[in-house]
Amino acid sequence: MQVRTATGTDKRNVITLWDACGLTRPWNSPEDDFDFALHGPSSTVLVLESNHRIIGSTLVGHDGHRGTVYYVSISPDHQGKGFGELLMEAAEDWLRGRGVWKVNLLVRKENSTAVRFYEKQGYGDQDCIALGKRLDGRADRSSN
Ligand SMILES: CC(C)(COP(=O)(O)OP(=O)(O)OC[C@H]1O[C@@H](n2cnc3c(N)ncnc32)[C@H](O)[C@@H]1OP(=O)(O)O)[C@@H](O)C(=O)NCCC(=O)NCCS
Repeated sequence: MQVRTATGTDKRNVITLWDACGLTRPWNSPEDDFDFALHGPSSTVLVLESNHRIIGSTLVGHDGHRGTVYYVSISPDHQGKGFGELLMEAAEDWLRGRGVWKVNLLVRKENSTAVRFYEKQGYGDQDCIALGKRLDGRADRSSN
């Protein structure tokens, strides 16, 4: 079991995992998200690998102020075994290593399971409203 930085050749398997975990949406391109994070100066994609199979992944990065994570995913057949916690620790270590001291993240309102998971990792409601706006001219249909 190891956490490592993804490479371009992991893209298909990572997106299959994000799909299997119900994290992709038709109005967002996971391919663009993967490429943008992997090639950006302040972001990456981490994968959790077991026996040469990717069983977990997250996109992590910072905006020069706060860190964030997206697409936090553990394959359905490996959930509930502590791997999500391991992945979050790796993402937090990645951010700490770049001098980031706080993480904010978005959870869709209907995903109460994920909220309970994050609360276990020490995350709490920040009493904020998340606002968003698309800059590519497409219709805004989602929170992220
Ligand atoms: C959310 C997710 C990443 C958690 O990963 P996981 O490997 O199943 O979680 P872990 O086994 O590491 O759990 C860590 C802790 O969180 C708790 N936890 C996990 N899921 C929970 C749930 N549904 N309800 C309550 N607690 C939960 C565990 O009990 C554990 O605490 P413990 O050590 O005291 O037992 C995983 O379930 C997943 O991929 N879900 C689908 C995708 C998703 O919703 N991602 C979040 C997007 S915002």
